[in-house]
Amino acid sequence: MDYFVIEGGRALHGRVKISGSKNAALPIMAASLMCDGQVVLRNVPDLSDIRHMQLILQRLGMQVERTEPDVLKLKVVDQSNCHAEYDLVRKMRASVCVMGPLLARRGLARVAMPGGCAIGIRPIDLHLKGIEALGGVVELIEGGDVLCKGKLKGTEIFLGGHFGSSVTATANVMMAAVFAEGTTIIESAACEPEIEDLANFLNAMGAKITGQGSPRITIEGVDKLTGGEYTVIPDRIEAGTFMVASAISKGEIIIDNCKLEHLMAVTKHLDDIGVVVEKYNGGAVVRSSGYLKPTDITTQPYPGFPTDLQAQFMALLSLADGNSIITEKIFPDRFLHVAELNRMGARLRKEGPTVVVEGVKQLIGAPVMASDLRASAALVLAGLIAKGTTEINRVYHIDRGYERIEEKLKPLGAKIERRSR
Ligand code: EPZ
Repeated sequence: MDYFVIEGGRALHGRVKISGSKNAALPIMAASLMCDGQVVLRNVPDLSDIRHMQLILQRLGMQVERTEPDVLKLKVVDQSNCHAEYDLVRKMRASVCVMGPLLARRGLARVAMPGGCAIGIRPIDLHLKGIEALGGVVELIEGGDVLCKGKLKGTEIFLGGHFGSSVTATANVMMAAVFAEGTTIIESAACEPEIEDLANFLNAMGAKITGQGSPRITIEGVDKLTGGEYTVIPDRIEAGTFMVASAISKGEIIIDNCKLEHLMAVTKHLDDIGVVVEKYNGGAVVRSSGYLKPTDITTQPYPGFPTDLQAQFMALLSLADGNSIITEKIFPDRFLHVAELNRMGARLRKEGPTVVVEGVKQLIGAPVMASDLRASAALVLAGLIAKGTTEINRVYHIDRGYERIEEKLKPLGAKIERRSR
């Protein structure tokens, strides 16, 4: 099993190119199940989650191959199997995104309930509510699978839940509505850039979707989708992670291939903390004097502060000059990184969905355990500036969402090695 060894204390300087968005590419790959012709996707990152979705789509009768470093070619060749089995779905929650496309194109979808993960119980009630509103018949069958079938008819759906909008529920219901008879309106839809990118992909293949990026999305039913080419947006969470890497290490990093307009809540908080973020050459340059001001952060659906950067900012604020408050409103249990950061000398106190971050002068290297994708990234960031050596175990978590992060950090001056035992 791979682990990282990091020698801390080096300011990072240089340039990094952000990869394509994992959370845009995954639903767009699932949407290719609906296309009659070949789909060519560009700017697709080479991640374990992407390879996992490739495997699921191949089991569902698609040819999927990576023809160039960031290009996937996908084509439906057999529509007989409509079952996404538990052994695949349980390893990646985003697998549930095949439900809408299968039901829309094949009239049948059997998908294992995804179950929970390190950040929460991860229900899919909103996905199923939307499918049923469209006329889908939903049944929980033996083995914990959900069976959806039927011909779909456009309708108006309020898709907000206890925690607000749902990203993948919006994706699933929007895809299911593409071939539905008539017009579908999704109210309280997720506004994330990844949803906008999925809608733009579907439109490029012949769908008729408007309102993407807003809380109200309208889908006019069409008869079919063609094939075609599409380029996935850059990964705003990877970009935000490298912004924190620059700030926490008191360095200066030029971040290429990132859309600052997708990171306004993040750059606003970096500005509050005293970190300089400037537009540069279609991306950004981020630098920090090293003096970090405390601030308060509450995670919210987009355009609010993203939950996927909460752990990384906790590592950064652990070194601020004063106390910060971080409140997690999307996944209230998403704090597995707290105990590990405290092992490195941070002073974090969890009070329900809130963590009080008492700033300290320095973190100390230690062996720590990665738990979920973004918590792992936070531990890498902490290791970059901790005194001494940090060892991060179970880095397979981080490989799910970052393309060999150590190969991107080394040219910036980080002393990080991937080892196996
Ligand atoms: C997406 O997950 C992302 N994953 C997550 O990124 C991200 O953290 C999350 O959105 C929030 O932005 C992908 O896009 C593949 P939600 P998703 O449904 O869609 C509750 C990463 O690190 N909810 O928007 O699963 C849910 O429990 C991953 O890249 C219901 O109650 O998240 C949560 O509290 C981690 N019922 C809230 O809504 C439902 O049917 C938001 O979840 C669905 C969700």
